[in-house]
Amino acid sequence: MALQGEIKLPGDKSISHRALMFSALGDGVSRLDNLNPGVDVRTTWEALINCGIQIEDKNGAVHVQGGGLRPFQQPERALNCGNSGTTARLMLGLLAAHPIHVQFIGDHSLSRRPMDRVFRPLQQMGANVSAQERKFLPLMLSGRGLWALEYRLPYASAQVKSAILLAGLHARGSTTVKSPAYSRDHTEQLLKAMGAKLKINGRAVSVSPLTKPLQAIDFSIPGDFSAAAFFITAGLLVPDSDLVIRQVGVNPTRIAFLHAVQEMGAQVTIANRNEIHGEAVADLRVRTSALKGITIHPEQIANLIDELPLIALLGSQATGETVVNGAEELRVKESDRITSIVNNMLGWGAKIFERPDGFSIEGPTPLSGGIVTTYGDHRIAMTMSVAGLISEQTPVLDNTKCIDISHPGFLDELRDLSDK
Ligand code: S3P
Repeated sequence: MALQGEIKLPGDKSISHRALMFSALGDGVSRLDNLNPGVDVRTTWEALINCGIQIEDKNGAVHVQGGGLRPFQQPERALNCGNSGTTARLMLGLLAAHPIHVQFIGDHSLSRRPMDRVFRPLQQMGANVSAQERKFLPLMLSGRGLWALEYRLPYASAQVKSAILLAGLHARGSTTVKSPAYSRDHTEQLLKAMGAKLKINGRAVSVSPLTKPLQAIDFSIPGDFSAAAFFITAGLLVPDSDLVIRQVGVNPTRIAFLHAVQEMGAQVTIANRNEIHGEAVADLRVRTSALKGITIHPEQIANLIDELPLIALLGSQATGETVVNGAEELRVKESDRITSIVNNMLGWGAKIFERPDGFSIEGPTPLSGGIVTTYGDHRIAMTMSVAGLISEQTPVLDNTKCIDISHPGFLDELRDLSDK
């Protein structure tokens, strides 16, 4: 079996959430193509509809009717953020200054993920947010006027940075967020493209309050680099593979995984570079490669956070040791992704060791395949499905539905490529 051919991936999940939300503040209709079709982005879509925003799918192009500076209406129901941390955290920031009362709820996994990292700084801006249980959903937000804030983030988080900047769009004065390391900058790029006043000075970003609505946009959303990472890994590991992935987002704050695999010895080339609304896009070509172990350092983590389970899989097939340091944030994702990936890889015979802030793994080792405990986490389910392409037995996932969170159809696409 070899993986051969060309693929085009669903739109970037992070950019899709933002495109929907920011379009709500637009001065007309925004048209979004290649919006991510997963459940998480649909959750943001429904949350916006619940707040009175009109969104329609017209033959695959999603039209969002911008409502100007004050577009939101009192929702009739609680905002159910499902499994989506990005929906919960960014919507909190987006709605904090609007005169509506909103209850935020989520599924079992999201209700155990920390929300205080967002609502504490918002409270410092004057936001009225109360939590029933210290730092978790459900939360109650009563929107009201906000002060500007200068906030130093304790960790690099694009979600927290974005929530504060979105609240800052309606605060009195300029709001600044300083990050200890670079995190994905899709919020900054898209707000700038839509006419917001933003100043970026290294890891400090300042936003001025909006004096007029954002400009509506036409946006063909780049393919999701995090989705591409599964196919890159598959192409590197399955013998005799040669894959082309078309029109993938290669925003520099998202592609630390690409640099990491290149350091491992991967043959991945970039062609046909382009740019849309500040987002770099390109085609990637991946060929099967002999890999060696590497060390991932804390300052790289934020730019490959969602790809770290794949580093464990690649490390199991690389010669020597692969070490991931400074990744404690992985413990508060859709599952505790350090424990989730270590347990699965151990169960398949990998020499992997859990650390408080990451893992180390020695390779190469054969993988047995068999049972996969997904913990309901799409990225664990997808990583182990890719591992199944090189394992002795076929993988048996306890939950395939969770893959729909980011990439419905992923398993079929992987199967189609490997049948060729
Ligand atoms: C995201 C930011 C990251 C990432 C998540 C999506 C975003 O989370 O893990 O999948 O869209 O801003 P953090 O901001 O918590 O690091």
